Amino acid sequence: MKKAHRLGQVQASLTLAITAKAAAMRAEGLDIVSFGAGEPDFNTPQPVIDAAKAALDAGMTKYTPVAGLPALRAAIAQWYEKQYGVETTADQVIVGVGGKQVIYNAIMSLIDDGDVVLIPTPYWLSYPAMVHLAGGRVEFVETSEEEAFLMTPAMLESAIQKHHPKLLILNSPSNPTGQAYDEAILRTLAEVLRKYPDVTILWDNIYAHLTYDGFKHVELSKVAPDLRERIITTSGFSKSFSMTGWRLGFAIADPERIKAMTTIQSHSTSNATSFAQAGALEALKLDTSVLEEMRQTFARRRSVMLECIAGIPGVSCVAPKGAFYVFLNCKNYCNIEHGLHWIQNDLDLAKYILEEGHVATIPGSAFGAPGYLRLSFALDEESIRKGIGRIAEALDKVMNE
Ligand SMILES: Cc1ncc(COP(=O)(O)O)c(C=O)c1O
Repeated sequence: MKKAHRLGQVQASLTLAITAKAAAMRAEGLDIVSFGAGEPDFNTPQPVIDAAKAALDAGMTKYTPVAGLPALRAAIAQWYEKQYGVETTADQVIVGVGGKQVIYNAIMSLIDDGDVVLIPTPYWLSYPAMVHLAGGRVEFVETSEEEAFLMTPAMLESAIQKHHPKLLILNSPSNPTGQAYDEAILRTLAEVLRKYPDVTILWDNIYAHLTYDGFKHVELSKVAPDLRERIITTSGFSKSFSMTGWRLGFAIADPERIKAMTTIQSHSTSNATSFAQAGALEALKLDTSVLEEMRQTFARRRSVMLECIAGIPGVSCVAPKGAFYVFLNCKNYCNIEHGLHWIQNDLDLAKYILEEGHVATIPGSAFGAPGYLRLSFALDEESIRKGIGRIAEALDKVMNE
């Protein structure tokens, strides 16, 4: 079959492949614990569901403006301003089909063939794929576990000088590490960015509401208002409002950027689903206690997860500050040739843990970080204990059988 060249560097999502295998095993009747999920397990808050139903009943079944319902764009602007103290107007907002689509639109609106995009590792796996689809070139900035997987100003500056990027992608809190940039680090990164006016920044804050242990999420635009014109903030309703299936995301950027992204969207999906947008309007009106309750549930699960992991010999992790992932260092269980076991890397390890322990995890290689496994804590505490217990048993066999 003939395929476009642009597919050459793009593979189907590895995370989806493992989740699919786990689902197939479950369908065979096996009891699988899945740490693979990239979505909250709560149902969408009822008032949001009711609002979408009411919109359907009221005949809201037609196209909306491409960039979103004017009322929703205005509500997002207000909400963002209230949450993060960054003045925002409706013409700085576009609503799209998920955070994923707005990120894609942003990249398509900026990147020409051969343009360089800087992406710190470990990264959300769709970023490089999107850059490749746009014809761009990815340069990774390797971060280290010792520095909590955060890019330092020195790393940023040397990467800019070496590669002359058009775009830098920052994701805080991060998928897959759960690490996040605090205000002090952001200030130092902003100082570097100030010197290089040709670099645009895509700031993906989709997990901003889910932070723990008192970590305070601060927006890059708040820390560096003078860089605002160059910052494209992308976010969405999936994670904090538990609305993954609704496919609703938004970006906040300079009105000219929003216009460019709207042009692209007008020729791909047009608007996000009309009645889903009505639900989103209601989501923004939810009492903050609704989101806070979900966050606290995640916080408890995180503690359980960290406590259980501490009991497994030979693995470790930096406690996540946000999102709902733990990024487990499993390097001691890679490159193993022992008895019945031949585990070369994290891909083999994830496969072994799924087959032997019936636990699904995502190999770090999917995020540009071999030797790690990503474990989501978007599942109940009992399952977390059961799943980690099984991982511990499976790993024990690797060493002692
Ligand atoms: C870092 C990050 N950004 C963006 C998204 C996009 O989410 P959605 O398209 O559901 O809004 C995800 C989803 O997994 C993510 O992890």
